[in-house]
Amino acid sequence: MFVVFIAASAAMGGFLFGYDSAVINGAVEGIKGRFDVGSATLGAVIAIALLGAAIGAMLAGRLADRLGRPRVMQIAAVFFAISGLGCMFPFSLYDLAAWRVLGGIAIGMASVIAPAYIAEVAPAKYRGRLASFQQAAIVLGIAVSQLVNFGLLNSADGDQRGTLLGVEAWQLMLGVEVLPAVVYLLLALRIPESPRWLVAQGRYEDAKAVLKDVEPAGTDLDAEVRRIDERMSSEHKPKLSDLLGGRAGLLPIVWIGIGLSVFQQLVGINVIFYYSSSLWQSVGIDPESSFFYSFTTSIINIIGTVVAMLLVDRIGRKPLALIGSGGMAVSLALAAWAFSFKKEVDGDFTLPDAQGTVALVAAHSFVLFFALSWGVVVWVMLGEMFPNRLRAAALGVAAGAQWITNWLITVSFPTLSDWNLAGSYVIYAFFALLSIPFILKWVPETKGKALEEMG
Ligand code: GLC
Repeated sequence: MFVVFIAASAAMGGFLFGYDSAVINGAVEGIKGRFDVGSATLGAVIAIALLGAAIGAMLAGRLADRLGRPRVMQIAAVFFAISGLGCMFPFSLYDLAAWRVLGGIAIGMASVIAPAYIAEVAPAKYRGRLASFQQAAIVLGIAVSQLVNFGLLNSADGDQRGTLLGVEAWQLMLGVEVLPAVVYLLLALRIPESPRWLVAQGRYEDAKAVLKDVEPAGTDLDAEVRRIDERMSSEHKPKLSDLLGGRAGLLPIVWIGIGLSVFQQLVGINVIFYYSSSLWQSVGIDPESSFFYSFTTSIINIIGTVVAMLLVDRIGRKPLALIGSGGMAVSLALAAWAFSFKKEVDGDFTLPDAQGTVALVAAHSFVLFFALSWGVVVWVMLGEMFPNRLRAAALGVAAGAQWITNWLITVSFPTLSDWNLAGSYVIYAFFALLSIPFILKWVPETKGKALEEMG
C-alpha cells in the first residue's frame, strides 16, 4: 500500500534520530584521545546535540506550516548529511560540537515532522500503527548504531583510534550516517505533501489527489476534503500564539503533550541507551559482556515496539501507557534495590551475583515495558492529539520539552550515579509511578478518532 511506503519514508527520519543520538557513545573514547580533553568537557560537548534537537523541534513546527511537511524532511536530511561529514573530519573539539548541534537540529526536526506528517496522511483506522513506524525506526537506528560501533571497533582491534580505510574508527562511526541521510533525502523528495496542509493552502484538487492514494478505496474524496476544510475554516491560520490560553499560560492540551514528553524521558530510558556500557561496567561487569547487554536491551526494545505496534489501534493508547507505567515502576524499583548492594572491593565496584542478575533482569524488563508503551504511545499521540490548526506548532513545543528533559537526564546521570546509583533509580521509579495519575486524569484516548475530532 502506498500509504505504508510514505509512512515508512517519513519514519526514515526516526532511523537517523535513533542512530545519531546513540552512535556517539561508541565514539567517545576516540574523540577524547584525539583532542586530549577531560570527561566533563567531552560530556558537555556531546550532550549539546540534545539541546540542538530541542531547537530543531521548535523550529520544525513553524517551518512545516510555512514550507510544507516534506520540505522540512528534506532540510533535515541535508543537515544530517552535512553534520555526518563534519563530525567525521573535525578540526577541533569546537567545530565537532558545532557539527553535533547541526545533527541535533536535524534530529529535532525529524522527531517532529514524522509523527505530524504520518498522522495527517494516515486513515484513522491504521493511524496508530502507521505512526508507530517512527518509534520502530528509532529503535532500529539505535540497534544499528550499536552494531556498527561494535563492528568497526572489532575491525580496529578494539581501539577507537585504530585506522580503517585511512581514518580512525570513531570517525567512521560518525560518518556512516551520511548514507541513511542520502536515502532519507531521496525518499523525502518522492513523497506527496500532506492533504491537510494542502487544504490549509486552498489547494483542494491536490489534496484530493493525495487522499485518493492513501484513503481506502470507495472513500468519498469530495466529502473528505470538505470535512477537513470545514473544520479548518472554522479555525484561522496557525500562529504560535494559538498555543496560548487558559489559566496556565498554554492551552491545556499543549500542557498534556508536554507532560507526555517529559514523563517519557524522566523514567530514565536513555540512561540505558546512552550509558549502558558504562552502567554495567560500573557494577563490575566486564566490557564485552557490557556491550552484549547493551545489545540485548536493544533487541528487547525492538520486540516490545513490534508488539506495541500491533496493539496500539486495538487496545488503545491509554491502557498501553498504564500497563507500561506500572511495569516500569516495578522494574525500576527492583533495579534500585539491586543497585543498593553495590560495593567497593579493592577499588573496584561490584554487585553480589544474585543482585547482579536481578539488576540485569530488571533493566531488560524496564526496557520491555517502555517499548510496549511509552516509546510508541508518546510519538503516536503527539502526532494526533492536537487540533489541525495547532498540530505542527504544539508538537514542536512538546517535542522541544522532551529534548530538554532528555538533555537534563543525560547530563545529570554521571553525577547522580556517582552520588548514588540506587538513588538515581529510585528517582526514575518515582516518575514512572507519578505518570499513572497523570494518564488517568489528563490524557485523552485518541484511538480511532478522526484528526478533525481532536481538541
Ligand atoms: C523514544 C524516546 C527516545 C528513546 C527511544 C528508545 O523514541 O523518545 O528518547 O531513545 O524511545 O527506544
